Amino acid sequence: MVINLILITGGAGYIGSHTNKALNKAGYDTVVVDNLVKGYEEFVKWGDFVNCDFGSKNLREIFENYDIDGVLHFAAFSSVAESMDYPQKYLKNNYKNTLNLLNIMRDYDVNKFIFSSTAAVYGNPIKIPITEDQKLKPINPYGYSKFITERALERESQKGDFNYVSLRYFNAAGCDFDAQIGELHDPETHLIPLVLDAAIGKRDSISIFGDDYDTPDGTCVRDYIHVNDLANAHILAYEYLNENNNSNIFNLGNGEGYSVREVIDTCKNVTSRDFNFKIDKRREGDPDILIADSTKIKNVLGWTPKYDLEAIVDSAWRWHRKVNDI
Ligand SMILES: NC(=O)c1ccc[n+]([C@@H]2O[C@H](COP(=O)([O-])OP(=O)(O)OC[C@H]3O[C@@H](n4cnc5c(N)ncnc54)[C@H](O)[C@@H]3O)[C@@H](O)[C@H]2O)c1
Repeated sequence: MVINLILITGGAGYIGSHTNKALNKAGYDTVVVDNLVKGYEEFVKWGDFVNCDFGSKNLREIFENYDIDGVLHFAAFSSVAESMDYPQKYLKNNYKNTLNLLNIMRDYDVNKFIFSSTAAVYGNPIKIPITEDQKLKPINPYGYSKFITERALERESQKGDFNYVSLRYFNAAGCDFDAQIGELHDPETHLIPLVLDAAIGKRDSISIFGDDYDTPDGTCVRDYIHVNDLANAHILAYEYLNENNNSNIFNLGNGEGYSVREVIDTCKNVTSRDFNFKIDKRREGDPDILIADSTKIKNVLGWTPKYDLEAIVDSAWRWHRKVNDI
């Protein structure tokens, strides 16, 4: 039996696998629970792996077999577009299954929880940069599923003997600099891997959805945060839960916005490749600008992001070349 280890749901996925690596490098023991519906077993290169749906009864066996100290909960469905078509699927996996996990945690006296929340809980922000105290008004079922899960966590903590940190990620991007693991969503919806596909000729061009937004170059502005900076925030959040008997919620973004055009230009520079892009019509529900105010996490956890957009693209490019044999 391994003692005092961290359970990572969704640790075979993009952000979970990078955080698993970071935790193991920092000396933690981990067990990854993932049903591989979106993840890859070969991404679990550190700690133990159990193939299990975190919403199933079988999850109990894992709590029976391991002495779990706390849980990092990444497992979820995370496509905004898919959530519009299948809202129930998102409510079931992201919300109801998390209630199952919380119930089991309570039965086994596991009382530390870190939750992968999202900027999508804010909906259309009232002011930029976005602070944690802005009103939460999700505008799609994905954001709603995370919003009600945050509410469930609040209720759970009010019962006592349970603390959580909810991290509201902005746009996770970049990959492990050693290219041992990376970003491999299927279908891929994230901008940087799509642009890199265009750079290697895997797609004819890249679409920019709207160039008439209220931004300096007309394309949407987002806050890109390196996945290793995200991973590091989880370690700090875990230390926070070890040292404090309370819960907290933090935005997690670089605090800097880049437009879609700027991301494309950076990809062209980093890859030294030219490729086409075309302007398509706007997608429903895309706010002009999403930028995090991450002052709170900097002040409370002492977190600082290390990587800028160029480093993000550089690391993603290393991974992209490896996966595509370039
Ligand atoms: N990628 C981003 O930019 C971003 C931004 C904000 C929030 N998030 C959140 O971060 C978390 C991780 O995102 P990601 O990009 O790494 O996604 P991902 O799809 O790469 O990883 C999710 C993992 O969870 C697993 N999973 C899903 N349902 C499961 C279930 N019922 N039982 C067991 N395993 C299950 C999948 O197989 C996958 O390995 C998600 O909760 C997502 O909502 C991501």
